[in-house]
Amino acid sequence: MIRNSQKINVLVVGGAGYIGGAITDVLLAKKISFSVYDKLVYEHQYMKPVDFIYGDIRDYKRLKSILPKYTHIIWLAAIVGDPGCQIDEWMTRAVNVEPVKWLVKNYKGRILFASTCSVYGKSVSMLDELSPTQPLSLYAKSKLEVESVLAKHPNVLIYRVGTAYGVSDHHSRIRLDLAVNLLSFKAVNEGKLTYFGGTQWRPFIHVKDIARAFVNGLGSSAKGIYNLTTENSQIKDLAKKIGKLTNCKVEATEQPFQDERNYHVDTDKAKKAGLLKGLKYNLGHGIKEMATLASLNRASSEEPVHFNEKHLAGLMKDNKKIWKK
Ligand SMILES: NC(=O)c1ccc[n+]([C@@H]2O[C@H](COP(=O)([O-])OP(=O)(O)OC[C@H]3O[C@@H](n4cnc5c(N)ncnc54)[C@H](O)[C@@H]3O)[C@@H](O)[C@H]2O)c1
Repeated sequence: MIRNSQKINVLVVGGAGYIGGAITDVLLAKKISFSVYDKLVYEHQYMKPVDFIYGDIRDYKRLKSILPKYTHIIWLAAIVGDPGCQIDEWMTRAVNVEPVKWLVKNYKGRILFASTCSVYGKSVSMLDELSPTQPLSLYAKSKLEVESVLAKHPNVLIYRVGTAYGVSDHHSRIRLDLAVNLLSFKAVNEGKLTYFGGTQWRPFIHVKDIARAFVNGLGSSAKGIYNLTTENSQIKDLAKKIGKLTNCKVEATEQPFQDERNYHVDTDKAKKAGLLKGLKYNLGHGIKEMATLASLNRASSEEPVHFNEKHLAGLMKDNKKIWKK
């Protein structure tokens, strides 16, 4: 719990993104003072009426001048997702790893960091925070490396977040490169879903529940690594659920799927620390949200901006924005 006597001021780094939108909504609702720091990699403008600082996390001079104002940092900025990180290894390290190394040396306040359950890679067991990691992608490797860098800081909470789904806030871009969101759009737009094998597990969590957990973490004394998810599901069961809720045909296919990830995680540690208080959404809710967006044509899966990899590949091809600090 955050008491009024504690003067909290939060810098949400990467706060203009999909998860950042939901976090800033919760901060506003709780009247917690904050600013957003973001380079707007996916947007032309930031319309949310909150304090906003346009900046790159590689601009250490800039960060150094503003960090002393903030008691807490929620660090979300990254090149996000396996395909996006594959585009340029140097760039992925420059954004996902080096700025966090700098932060650990230059910031004394509390850090809340978004890592990923992808660090577990492939395993048939239920995984807790002490289970072996086996990152299969550059994205997961970059997050695992940063976890060990952050371990040197005295006040860090790291969430290994499951795959997000659902609608964030009114301003943020919908990500359609996430399993639940993409499959729900496909179901509505194509009337048919196919899955290969489908026995692979994945942990899922509504983007607003991620936001709630981050804000819970601000006032908590919890430190170290915590799995963060609300539901584990096998892909075939997810497809069937989407089929049922959208009236679409679901079929198994022989066409192998590239993504080898398979993991399901236990969240007892986060539950015991009180970090999951107030989390309330389930997959059914998120699927219906996405199906509504798709049927009302509120977002188009033809637009590259909804897919990190497609958008970043376009920016990098044009040698724009992402390269320059
Ligand atoms: N969405 C998920 O399913 C999921 C799952 C696990 C972990 N995470 C982690 O949560 C965090 C947020 O994810 P998201 O889904 O909101 O992604 P996102 O891509 O929507 O948001 C990332 C934000 O970071 C900003 N950013 C990127 N490079 C920057 C730079 N150089 N300087 C300043 N800002 C920069 C972008 O402009 C964007 O607003 C990421 O660290 C991600 O790895 C997300």
